[in-house]
Amino acid sequence: MKKTAIVALAGIAAVTVALSGCGRTEPGAEGGGDDAAGFAADASIGVALPDRTSENWVLAGDLFENGLEEAGFTGDVQYAGSSNAVGDQQQQVQQMIDAGVEVIVIGAADTNQLATQLEAADAADITVIAYDRLIQNSDLVDYYVAFDNFNVGVLQAESLLEGLEANFPGESPWNVELFSGSSDDSNSAVFFDGAMSVLQPAIDDGTLNVVSGQTTVQQTATEDWAAENAQNRMDTIITSSYQGVELHGVLSPNDNLARAIIASATGAGFPVPVVTGQDSEVASVESIVAGEQYSTIYKDTRALVAATIDMVSQLQAGEEVTTTGEADNGAVEVPSNLLDPVIVTQENAAEAYADNPDLEPLTQQ
Ligand code: BGC
Repeated sequence: MKKTAIVALAGIAAVTVALSGCGRTEPGAEGGGDDAAGFAADASIGVALPDRTSENWVLAGDLFENGLEEAGFTGDVQYAGSSNAVGDQQQQVQQMIDAGVEVIVIGAADTNQLATQLEAADAADITVIAYDRLIQNSDLVDYYVAFDNFNVGVLQAESLLEGLEANFPGESPWNVELFSGSSDDSNSAVFFDGAMSVLQPAIDDGTLNVVSGQTTVQQTATEDWAAENAQNRMDTIITSSYQGVELHGVLSPNDNLARAIIASATGAGFPVPVVTGQDSEVASVESIVAGEQYSTIYKDTRALVAATIDMVSQLQAGEEVTTTGEADNGAVEVPSNLLDPVIVTQENAAEAYADNPDLEPLTQQ
C-alpha cells in the first residue's frame, strides 16, 4: 500500500479491523479456533493460573510475564488463591474478558468449572487456550498446549518397574501403593490411565501386589494435589496394611506428593521405597541425585510457555496455528500442541538438565 493511501486511511476506525483481517485463517473446524485471528500487535493477553503449589506454576507466571512483553503484548497474569481457587479464577477470567483481552490462556483450577466464563469469552470473540490442563466438556476451548500427559503416566510406571527391579532384584511380587492427583484436575486421570496401561498387566500377572487393594483413580486421589493429603493417606495405608510387610515402591503423580510419601514411609521406619514423581522440582532433583526419590519427569516449563506464546503470536499474525494433534475433552477434539515429557533418574539427570541453568548445577554433587 502506498504511503499516501495509508495516511488517507489513517483516521478511519475501520482500518485496524480491515488490516488485521488480512491473512485471517479459519483454523481447524473441530474444537473452535474461530476467533481472534489477526489482532493488534500490542494486544492484551490474559493468563489465568491455578495456584503456586507446584514450582512449575510459579515459573510459568514469570515466564509468561516476560515472554508476552518480549513478544510485544501486554500480559495480565493472575493466580487463583488457594482457599477459593475456583471462584477466584472464574472472577479473574471474567475480569480479563471485561478488560478486552484478545486471548486468554487458562491453567484451570478446576477443569470442569469454567462454562460460564467460556461462554462470555466466546461472545466477546476471545480465543481460549487451555494450558497444561484440558478444560472439559466444552466446545468453546479453542486450543490446548501441554505435555503429553498420558505418556507422563507411562514413563512414571515404567520407571517404577525399573526401580523395583534395580533395588529389589528377584524379590517380586513387589509391594506397591498407587497415588493419583486431584479429582478436579483432568490431568489426574490421564496420568493415572497412562501409568495403569503399564502397571495393570503387572498387577494381573502377580509381579506387583497393591497391598491396600486401592487401585482406582477415585481410591487413590489426592485432593487439591495437597502434600498433607498424600502423607495422611500413606500414613493410614501403612498402619492398616504394612504391619510387618515391606513397602517396595509407590507410584506418585508428582514431586510434591512424592516427597510427602517418602516422609511418611521413613517416618514409619521404612527404608526409602522406589517413588516416582513429576515436575523436576528442586528438592526432588536433589533427592534423586542423593539416591532417595527414584525418578521425576522433566516438563520444561520454558518450552511450554514458549509454545503457548508462539501460538498467541500466530493468532495475532493471522497465521495458521501449529498443532501436533487433537485432545478429546468430552465435547470436542481440541486442536492441541503436545510436547514430549522426559523421564529423569539419578542416571540421566545431568544429561537431561544440561541446558537448564537452574537444575543442571544440582546434578553436580
Ligand atoms: C500438572 C502437574 C502438577 C500438578 C499439580 C498438573 O495439572 O500437569 O505438572 O504437578 O498439576 O500442580
